[in-house]
Amino acid sequence: MERTFLAVKPDGVQRGLVGEIIRRLEAKGFTLVGLKLMKVSRELAEQHYDVHREKPFFPGLVEFITSGPVVAMVWEGEGVVASARKLIGATNPLTAEPGTIRGDFGVSVGRNLIHGSDAVETGRREIALWFKEEELVSWQPTL
Ligand code: CMP
Repeated sequence: MERTFLAVKPDGVQRGLVGEIIRRLEAKGFTLVGLKLMKVSRELAEQHYDVHREKPFFPGLVEFITSGPVVAMVWEGEGVVASARKLIGATNPLTAEPGTIRGDFGVSVGRNLIHGSDAVETGRREIALWFKEEELVSWQPTL
């Protein structure tokens, strides 16, 4: 089954949006298979954002993601990668549609509350980077 990696960033945690974000993914019908609150090391942050290494905002991005606790999650379901990206909204919260997480709660591209994998293959890479296999729980809703 398809999986995606999502992380509530330090701004989302500090603004008390963890429950709201999880609620939206649960309400949609996706299955939570991994969840942890963690301080992100500089090494993990740099690996996670490796594709942005040459961008001018890279140092600030690493500084920000390591600045406070993050809630790392793995969600499972058919089409979950693209669907979670839709629920999250555009990278810049100012242009994100109302009804999306960033559209409803954010105003800054550098403080956009949540990260979501942009493709199935990226999701695989990010899940392996952030989670050990034994931290993931495989289960199927039966109700
Ligand atoms: P995320 O989905 O975590 O992936 C890369 C992040 O880089 C993105 O969300 C933004 O938070 C950040 N980002 C993208 N563009 C800019 C920018 N112009 N200035 C600051 N941060 C940016």
